[in-house]
Amino acid sequence: MFYKVGTHKDHGFHHDPFKAFVSPRPIGWISTLSQQGVSNLAPYSYFNAVSSDPPVVFFAGGSKRGIGGPKDSQRNAERTGEFVCSIVCHAQRKQMNITSLHLPHGEDEMPKAELSGEPSVLVKPLRVKGAPVHLECKYLQSVQTPCWSENQENWVIFGEVIGIHVDESIIKNGYVDVTLYRPVARLGYMEYATVSEVYTMDRPD
Ligand SMILES: Cc1cc2nc3c(=O)[nH]c(=O)nc-3n(C[C@H](O)[C@H](O)[C@H](O)COP(=O)(O)O)c2cc1C
Repeated sequence: MFYKVGTHKDHGFHHDPFKAFVSPRPIGWISTLSQQGVSNLAPYSYFNAVSSDPPVVFFAGGSKRGIGGPKDSQRNAERTGEFVCSIVCHAQRKQMNITSLHLPHGEDEMPKAELSGEPSVLVKPLRVKGAPVHLECKYLQSVQTPCWSENQENWVIFGEVIGIHVDESIIKNGYVDVTLYRPVARLGYMEYATVSEVYTMDRPD
């Protein structure tokens, strides 16, 4: 089957399958501070690493539900120049989901999800306590991408990772063992996967 983007309903799909095709996607659990110093936390599965020398990550956001304009994570990262990305482990999957609540700007998602924050070292936003890895990021730039929905915008927000916290319990013989924390990935629809099994493949040359 081939279909032109936007015509999936004519081809028997009940829901746009795009996100199911580009999966699994890691989830960046983005914490920021507003200019008034209020903590904000939200999951983004349009999230990934784009380089490692230096490490650079991005998260991509649409507009804030109901009122338009950038989502709080983007707005705070742009205004304060900092964000932290905590990595979501299986044990915190339900709390991660709760932090996607659409709260008014200036309301902290952490207490709603019974989470607490820990201070970072090089940046001001808090890290999610209990997460196995935290990436402290310096905001680099935002790039606007096309948007077909009225009064909505899409943006990609890049940050350079300048400090990393690792829970030492996930390190085995000098390597990170992801099966010890089981990162959560987003699939299509409301589906998720947890990495609990890995295999290795040598490069051909
Ligand atoms: C697993 C998961 C992944 C999500 N990924 C994204 C995403 O990549 N981009 C986005 O705009 N919203 C995404 N959302 C929705 C946001 O988390 C939600 O809109 C949140 O309220 C944004 O918060 P903020 O305004 O504090 O940044 C996701 C939600 C969940 C549960």
